[in-house]
Amino acid sequence: MKQLTKKIYIQTWGCQMNLADTEVIRSILTKNGYGFVPNEQEADVIMLNTCAIRENAHRKVYGRIQKIISDRCSVVSGQKKPLIGILGCMATNLRTDLLENKNLAIDFIAGPDSYKRLPNLIKEATIGKDHGSQNTDYKPFDVTLSEFETYSDITPSRQEGVNGWISVMRGCNNFCTFCVVPYTRGRERSRAVANVVEEAKILAAEGFKQVTLLGQNVNSYKHDSDDFASLIEAVSKVDGIERIRFTSPHPKDFPENLLQVIAHNPKVCKQIHYPIQAGNNRILDLMNRTYTREEILDHIAHIRTTIPNIGLSTDVIVGFCSETDQEFDETYDLMDKIMFDSAFIFKYSERKNTIASKKHADDVPEAVKTERIVRLNELQKAISLKKNAAHVGETHTILIEKLGTAKDPDKCIGRNDQNKIVVIPRGPYTIGDFIDVKITRGTPVALEGKILET
Ligand code: 5AD
Ligand code: SF4
Repeated sequence: MKQLTKKIYIQTWGCQMNLADTEVIRSILTKNGYGFVPNEQEADVIMLNTCAIRENAHRKVYGRIQKIISDRCSVVSGQKKPLIGILGCMATNLRTDLLENKNLAIDFIAGPDSYKRLPNLIKEATIGKDHGSQNTDYKPFDVTLSEFETYSDITPSRQEGVNGWISVMRGCNNFCTFCVVPYTRGRERSRAVANVVEEAKILAAEGFKQVTLLGQNVNSYKHDSDDFASLIEAVSKVDGIERIRFTSPHPKDFPENLLQVIAHNPKVCKQIHYPIQAGNNRILDLMNRTYTREEILDHIAHIRTTIPNIGLSTDVIVGFCSETDQEFDETYDLMDKIMFDSAFIFKYSERKNTIASKKHADDVPEAVKTERIVRLNELQKAISLKKNAAHVGETHTILIEKLGTAKDPDKCIGRNDQNKIVVIPRGPYTIGDFIDVKITRGTPVALEGKILET
């Protein structure tokens, strides 16, 4: 029998949850004797941890698979060809295509709840390859969605930095009609508070100053009698953790006690990612978001009264099924009224299996979607500039996360409490330091500052 495949290269697409999952995968495979290499040339197994949220995410992965396959074809005879494994949301959503498509010579598939089976899947794929001439179609896979798996017993193998992710709940029960996540990641399930706190302690001991609690919809976090606010309070008691962030909540069931924790707990950053998705009530209803624009406006006003220095960001989808010009104008108007600090704006992308794909036509022409996204991005750019410029003269505490920027080795980057990037001249400090800076300039994407003279 051939020796077990050993060296793995993993590439990750998509959201923070996927980045956190890659750390879980690294941990599982390291414990099973596998090693990780920084590039695919050295790898025996290439794993792509994929995202299914929009079509362009798919396209990138398909392009990548084709490239790996063509590189694999040019491998000199006698040399070992790497196995290719597809992981993550595409694995669940496109399993049939991935398994049956003869042009996609991949070797194994693992969905987001099957990572503990990866050592076995790799072994099976290796054996399948050894017998390749008889059984070239053999592709071991596991895309079973679990009601229980939270990987609470795995300590993720983290990369260096100031921020450590902890995924506190997985899955989503909301079924927003455009979204594929409930199908690729299954039902909601949460980890116990004590278990998350243990992980936060490990993280602090490893030197991470900041923790970001992750979940598809963190407001739904529930374990025994604990809710998300009590979880955050418990994590904030961990010595060494100085900053706590979380993402993402859903506007529909944003708990008041969570707002109070953000307002009063000094370790909890004054920042909320608040995905509105649209600003017209008919579209919000078609999306199954279960709130109205009026409710959003009221709630945002309440958030700003409760936490005056809150940093707010959002997600918006333009060109959802049957969205008219007037309906888009209402989204534009809502964005103009709320003035988020920043926004991620997407063109609607129809996803297989979703409610929208079954019930509503994706009938807004591509050119109209483009026009809407351009207009909204222009508006947001102007708002972000205005909001950032308003900080000039203020003093902010930043956590240094990078020494030297891509453009300038003499600058360095930190983030303030509101999660805004602050660029400052390089000084005698290191990654992980907290320093006070005076804001000197605001751009649409960042703040610039200088060290306070003492
Ligand atoms: N098309 C476009 N954007 C989408 N999102 C989720 N599903 C889709 C889709 N089908 C966006 C939402 C969500 C963010 C993570 O991705 O805005 O909040
Ligand atoms: Fe998708 Fe809606 Fe769940 Fe967010 S809340 S993951 S948009 S279904």
